[in-house]
Amino acid sequence: VHAGVTEDGPRVALYGCQRRTPLAHSNQALTDALETLAEEAGFGGSEGRSLAFTRAASVLKSLPGPLTSLGELSPLPCIGEHSRKVIQEVLEDGVSVEVERVKLSERYRTMKLFTKIFGVGVKTAIRWYQEGLRTLADLQERHTELTREQQAGLQHYTDLNTPVERSEADTIERLVQEAVWQFLPDASVMLTGGFRRGKQQGHDVDFLITHPQEDKEVGLLSKVIRWLDSQGFILYQHSQRNTYQLPGDPELLSSGGGSSMDRFERCFSILRLARLTQDKDLPPGSGAQGICTQGGCGAARGWKAVRVDLVVAPFSQFPFALLGWTGSRHFERELRRFAKHKRKMILNSHALYDMAQQMFLPAASEEEIFQHLGLEYVPPTERNA
Ligand code: GTP
Ligand code: MN
Ligand code: MN
Repeated sequence: VHAGVTEDGPRVALYGCQRRTPLAHSNQALTDALETLAEEAGFGGSEGRSLAFTRAASVLKSLPGPLTSLGELSPLPCIGEHSRKVIQEVLEDGVSVEVERVKLSERYRTMKLFTKIFGVGVKTAIRWYQEGLRTLADLQERHTELTREQQAGLQHYTDLNTPVERSEADTIERLVQEAVWQFLPDASVMLTGGFRRGKQQGHDVDFLITHPQEDKEVGLLSKVIRWLDSQGFILYQHSQRNTYQLPGDPELLSSGGGSSMDRFERCFSILRLARLTQDKDLPPGSGAQGICTQGGCGAARGWKAVRVDLVVAPFSQFPFALLGWTGSRHFERELRRFAKHKRKMILNSHALYDMAQQMFLPAASEEEIFQHLGLEYVPPTERNA
């Protein structure tokens, strides 16, 4: 039974944050098809259409069993005409002609290739596509026009598009703890993102760092990065300092809240992780230079490039940061939308602001934030909306 259920109301609640969405669900073929169309709409700049397909897919992910007939769609929210047609095709024929056509199209394939580069968003990929670029080799020729981030993304393309395993995330967690605890033994390092939601693989590893004594965490990140660098772990890093001011940062309100970007001290990095299984006896540093955009290159080395995000939150903001960095992206979007439209509150990764009472609502745990919002608590493993 889902939160928000009434006797004659919808069986599935309207907002993704009112539902429980486990990692494994029973409608993968349908959600894959809808998510391909969501992605394609995003590549075409149609954010609204993209969101509609994402919402439809998310509703199906929360169903307790496989959808077998079109009739089962009628009580469900967020299933538009187009989504219904795609679902019908997949139910009847196993595939959707439209989705298959998209997957084979030159634009979709090129956009996929380009947006999988670290540092390349949809806008940049569209521009390159419109300029006639099609391959990674095309980009390589324009190397000097790329940002430092994109150059690193291209250099480590194969590794960064090889899923990070849970065991690798655990190894990196121990490394980050070792680094952090040298400077602040009482600090806590928490694995967030997809791994906290129970995923066994990820595109990166996300950490949230805090210290029970507020302000102790200030300046920690640069020391951690410097140490990791001195040990040879840093292949790339970009750090930002904290730009959030309390209390009542006016930016929080003037920006309308809803943004997923936050202002914590953070570091987006690429770490050099020793391979756990194979190639242990390769000389250190072999293959360390050179561009590895071709497959197979990674296997010849004793290490693998892994994307790691480090975020430092002051203790009083930690529950908000934890909620904001655990995801999924769609769950977060739905939480913020629910807060705004149903509760007249602004939620972000720093705070929760009640517009009616004109006050910030403090919280010592994620559970308290759900309580403030009048939502049933959803544990991390059920936030795969
Ligand atoms: P994979 O890494 O692909 O396995 O999935 P993931 O869910 O971990 O995705 P990702 O690492 O991209 O993001 C993790 C969570 O952090 C998501 O819920 C995002 O919404 C959130 N997130 C990512 N970037 C930012 C940011 O700049 N600010 C805030 N507040 N949240 C972010
Ligand atoms: Mn992640
Ligand atoms: Mn991340």
